[in-house]
Formats: sequence, structure tokens, C-alpha cells
Amino acid sequence: MKKSFILLFCVTLVLLLASAAMAFTGSYTEGTGINGSVHDLRPSNPGLNYDANPADYKTRICIYCHAPHHAYRPNTAGANGTGPLAPADYTYLPLWNHKVTGQAFIPYYNGPDAPQSGPKASQAIVNFDKIGAVSLLCLSCHDGTVAVNEYGNATQDARSQSSGGGMIADQYKIGKDGNLSNHHPIGFSWVAAAEDPEIADPSVAAFGSLMVADVLYNGKMECSTCHNVHNKNNTGEKLLHISDANSNLCLTCHLKGTITP
Ligand code: HEC
Ligand code: HEC
Ligand code: HEC
Ligand code: HEC
Repeated sequence: MKKSFILLFCVTLVLLLASAAMAFTGSYTEGTGINGSVHDLRPSNPGLNYDANPADYKTRICIYCHAPHHAYRPNTAGANGTGPLAPADYTYLPLWNHKVTGQAFIPYYNGPDAPQSGPKASQAIVNFDKIGAVSLLCLSCHDGTVAVNEYGNATQDARSQSSGGGMIADQYKIGKDGNLSNHHPIGFSWVAAAEDPEIADPSVAAFGSLMVADVLYNGKMECSTCHNVHNKNNTGEKLLHISDANSNLCLTCHLKGTITP
């Protein structure tokens, strides 16, 4: 009895360790492109166990997220062509091939006693519209409801389709259970100085050669306002447009101190 309990304990421990090990173990240099980065999901990239099923005939990188033909189409009046219609909130679909999340998300919330008016009131709440389409694309892998290796659709060549059960590793889950309330706000229209003098003007604030305004989507702040999904032209760790060393990332937008060179 005791022995079988110990055995069960050991097996559970091994299983736990095995699932914990399922995360990116490689390294990549900021800004050098997608190859070898954490978004290069080919089997050759260490630690990423999201192989296509069946294996992709050309071990393509882009296919997890984009396809040249029969990708998702926006569900708006006048949508033509083949390929599945995406849910209505998907108003930006750059040849999107990854299966999309159907999760409804709770947006940022800072509590009932937060200032409700004046410069300290959260414009992220006041100006919230909805979680933007570009962020929903990220969340289609990162919310943990859709497998990373689930892409393509029946109107496509079978070779551009993959079915798998590889859910994203826990430490990379954002918006788990549809809850984004305790994550940096997204999905709101940016209103600069007039509303809060400690928020930068996005057409002045810069991430290297990019104006912050260049990475607003229809004027709104989204995941891609801070991150570069293709690891291109960014200088920061974790796909950030600039490094958050000395909180320089935060200080670019929040005028609460000086940037450390
Ligand atoms: C096709 C699925 C997929 C999509 C879509 C996707 N990601 Fe990821 N992302 C991953 C996987 C897989 C990892 C690594 C997780 C692991 O190691 O298990 C990852 C890791 C990351 C990391 C961690 C980087 C690091 O160096 O540790 C960031 C940041 C990130 N993604 C941001 C984004 C953003 C922002 C978007 C949308 C613009 C996005 N991702 C879209 C699959 C995806
Ligand atoms: C992990 C998912 C993922 C992979 C893999 C990926 N992309 Fe993207 N791509 C995105 C997302 C999300 C967007 C829209 C958000 C953004 O631009 O930040 C996008 C946007 C784009 C755009 C339009 C905007 C722009 O940056 O020009 C192009 C073009 C593009 N991708 C090409 C590619 C190519 C080519 C590859 C393969 C070499 C690739 N992507 C691989 C997720 C991915
Ligand atoms: C305000 C800027 C900002 C926005 C907006 C943002 N992130 Fe991040 N993200 C960061 C920073 C900074 C880190 C690094 C945190 C650290 O080093 O501990 C990070 C880390 C991550 C990681 C790595 C895991 C972790 O917790 O460190 C993932 C995955 C990620 N972000 C995905 C997303 C997704 C998906 C969205 C949109 C839903 C998003 N981010 C929106 C700034 C942002
Ligand atoms: C790309 C610009 C940008 C970056 C980078 C950024 N923020 Fe923000 N942040 C904003 C904007 C715009 C708002 C909305 C302003 C508001 O709600 O008062 C906001 C809101 C917030 C809020 C909520 C304020 C409230 O009233 O509830 C906090 C706290 C915050 N950011 C902290 C950070 C931290 C910490 C970092 C660095 C990890 C960071 N931000 C990075 C632009 C940014």
C-alpha cells in the first residue's frame, strides 16, 4: 500500500516535471528576426513541443499563423472568397491561418475606489472599446484555450492544416480563463496630454526608430504596442520593442521619470 503510494507520487512528479519542461529552452538575439526565436515553432527549435500534425511538408515557420491562400476572412459585409469567416470581433486578419479563440475577455479593472475623474482616472477604462483584433490573434495561442499547433481549415490544401493538442506552457499564458483585468490595459483609445499630462504623446514618444503611434492599432493600445511578434527591429527582451531595463519601456509612455541611457 505504502509502496504503491510512493510509486504513484514518483510517477506524478515525473509527469509534472515533464510538463514543466515543455517551454522554450533556446535563446535568441533581440531584433534578429523570427528564425530561432520563441515564435519559430519548427521542431528544430529547442523546448518547443508544438510540432505540426501531420508534420509540415516544408517545415514552414509562417504557416502556424499565416497562409498564402484560403485564410480566415473578416466577418463584415462584403466579405468574399473561400476560407472560413472569423467571429465578428476579428476586424484585422493579416492572412490569418491559426485557429482563433472564442473566449470573451474581461478587460482591465482597477477597483471601485479608483479615482473616477480628473487626470488620475484610468483613461484605459474610460476609453475602453473592446479587446482589439490584433490582440485576439495573440490570445488565440496565449489564452490557453486553443492549441498552438492547431491551424488551417478544410478549404485548404491538407498540407496547410495541423491538428494538435499542444497548449501553451503555463508561464506564457496571458488572459487565462478570459481574465485580462489584472494585465496592463489594452483595447482602449489613447488620449494624450489633455487627459493626463503624465501620459506621453504617442506621436512624440519613440521606441528606437518607431513612434509609439506607429504601433497603435486604429489609435488603440494592444499587445503589439509593446511586443514585436516577429522579433524584428526590436531591441528589448521578450519581444519588447525596447528593453525594460531600468523600466525604460514604462518610462517611454509614462512620464514619471527619466530614461536611463
Ligand atoms: C501560433 C501561436 C502563437 C501566437 C499566435 C502568438 N504566440 Fe507568443 N508564443 C507562442 C509560444 C508557443 C511561445 C513560447 C511558449 C513555450 O515556450 O511553451 C510564445 C512566447 C511569447 C513570448 C515570450 C518571449 C520570450 O522571450 O520569453 C511573448 C512576449 C509572446 N509570445 C508574445 C506574443 C504576442 C504579443 C503575440 C501577438 C502579437 C503572440 N505572442 C502570438 C505562441 C504564439
Ligand atoms: C506566432 C505567430 C506568427 C508567426 C509565426 C508569423 N507571424 Fe506574421 N503576424 C503575426 C501577427 C499576430 C500579426 C499581426 C500583429 C502585428 O503585426 O504585430 C502579423 C502580421 C504580419 C504581417 C503584416 C504586418 C507587418 O508586420 O508587416 C506580415 C507581412 C507578416 N505577419 C508576415 C509574416 C511572415 C512572412 C512570417 C514567416 C516568416 C510570419 N509573419 C510569421 C503573427 C505571426
Ligand atoms: C505595456 C506593455 C505591454 C503590453 C500592452 C503587453 N505586454 Fe506582454 N510583456 C510586457 C513586459 C514588460 C514583459 C516582460 C515581463 C518580465 O520580464 O517579467 C512582458 C512579457 C510577456 C510574456 C512572457 C511571459 C511573462 O509573463 O513574462 C508574454 C507571453 C506576453 N508578454 C504576452 C503578451 C500578450 C499576449 C499581450 C496582449 C494581451 C501583452 N503581452 C501585452 C509588456 C507588455
Ligand atoms: C506604449 C506605451 C505604454 C507602455 C510601454 C506602458 N504603458 Fe502603462 N499605460 C499606458 C497608457 C496609455 C495607459 C492608460 C492611461 C491611464 O489609464 O491612465 C496605461 C495604464 C497603466 C496603468 C494603469 C493606471 C490606472 O489608472 O489604473 C499602470 C499602473 C501602468 N500603465 C503601468 C505601466 C508599467 C509598470 C509599464 C512598464 C512595464 C507600462 N505601464 C508600460 C501606456 C503604456
